[in-house]
Amino acid sequence: MSKKAIVVNFGGQYAHLIARRLREAGLFAVLIQPEELEDALRRDDVVAVVLSGGPKSVLEEEIEINPAILETRVPVLGICYGHQLLAKMLGGRVERGPGEYGNTKVRILEGDPLLDGLDREEVVWMSHGDYVALPPPGFKVLAVSERGYVAVMKSSDRPIYGVQFHPEVSHTAKGRLIFKNFVEKIVGVEPSQRWDPVSQIPRLIEQIRASVGPDEKVLIAVSGGIDSTVTAILISKAIGERAVPIFVNHGLFREGEPEEVLSALRGLGLSVVYVDASERFLSRLEGVDDCEERRRIVGEMFAEVFAETAAKIEGAKWLAQGTLYPDVVESGAVKGADRIKSHHNVAGLPQWLGLKMLEPLKDFYKDEVRAIARALGVPEEFVRRHPFPGPGLAVRIMGRFTREKLEIARKASRIVEEELRRAGLYDDVWQAFAAVGDDKWVGVKGDARTVGHVVVVRIVQSEDAMTADWPQLDKEVLSRISSRITSEVPNVVMVAYAITQKPPATIEPC
Ligand code: XMP
Repeated sequence: MSKKAIVVNFGGQYAHLIARRLREAGLFAVLIQPEELEDALRRDDVVAVVLSGGPKSVLEEEIEINPAILETRVPVLGICYGHQLLAKMLGGRVERGPGEYGNTKVRILEGDPLLDGLDREEVVWMSHGDYVALPPPGFKVLAVSERGYVAVMKSSDRPIYGVQFHPEVSHTAKGRLIFKNFVEKIVGVEPSQRWDPVSQIPRLIEQIRASVGPDEKVLIAVSGGIDSTVTAILISKAIGERAVPIFVNHGLFREGEPEEVLSALRGLGLSVVYVDASERFLSRLEGVDDCEERRRIVGEMFAEVFAETAAKIEGAKWLAQGTLYPDVVESGAVKGADRIKSHHNVAGLPQWLGLKMLEPLKDFYKDEVRAIARALGVPEEFVRRHPFPGPGLAVRIMGRFTREKLEIARKASRIVEEELRRAGLYDDVWQAFAAVGDDKWVGVKGDARTVGHVVVVRIVQSEDAMTADWPQLDKEVLSRISSRITSEVPNVVMVAYAITQKPPATIEPC
């Protein structure tokens, strides 16, 4: 791969967003840990360094990077914690204040290529307690916040910048422009050198062809999601019939989904092996209370079924998965971080399958995979499908897993999606579904009193599933969802709309 930026991850929740913004602006970017910086700077394909934000305070913690960074000639951009770290290391002063959180105004004092196209006053998104009270010697203050803190600073003799706010989050209106300026004007990436995921397709196909031996077959676990679909198409382009996509139906899909997925994949020219193991999965899951336990069971059974199928395919030597870049980073770098839900690890099929691993998309983000999918001719409808968890509806059942609750979640989720499509809102949201637990509500049907389930409708907007918000939908849309669910789904009397953001709540109920 060509020139790249490295993003030093100090544990801020937006480090991935920084890498994505840099890539969108035309510069390939990868995340590294602070201790990897020294080695990374010795490589000549590194053309820029960005220091991320993070939860620590430079007033309390040891500085965690090698000062060698300051000798480098490549442009450096410190963001939030990174900005304060630069200030402290170079002899400026950092202090603790009352903090600035959320939308904040900054005033630009001096023009600079980094800030081209910004107005004298801009609204940016801040989230900090410490601040730079005095820039290091030799630094100019380019912008200040309402409280008078250093919002943007720049070295007078080297391309080193610090910004207190977060240009990577969408609330900073001109954030993308700042990254574009950084990439084009500070790093100097020419239009002909721009990073473009689609241009990587021939290289990806060539790499697959070079790795897989002439008599070897590659099994691909496909789920109907965009990542595994693109993986399967790339491999089948590389080695034709020796690419064997396998679709295991675990019985936890949305209504009609297995049929739709099969016909879509076959329509794309993939000869999919279909394994209906739904009864086997469901009888194992029945009565299991704990959601994490259900995830474990689904993972384990998936591997079992997959292994049985693989054993029947002669020449199978490889296993391909649609692992993406965030999965790779997260599985290696969550040191000390709490594991909220087990899926945040690369699930991976177990080693005992004895197959070599192929993960052609491991350097890419989801939006890049979507671009690749479009270029490969995957229909738009498929590209835009909402993400769906691997263990499917098993994570949308609260409390004990029963087939009755599964059918409720299945049917109600379908209705939520259908109504959003009808209202033209499907593409505006990240996910939309219905979950069900054991709560009951009294209803009246005809003149009779009945008792039925409560269904919770969860509709969220999000950029990367790390944070999420619920949209304020039209009353009419919500009403239709409610009346269809209570009339079409047996044993449901009440529909509730979930109005809690992530955080504190996660997207899926369990
Ligand atoms: P949470 O619920 O943690 O979900 O806010 C974040 C995103 O991950 C999806 N999700 C899963 N995906 N296996 C998966 O492949 C899982 O076990 C799983 N649990 C949650 C969820 O749908 C959302 O997009």
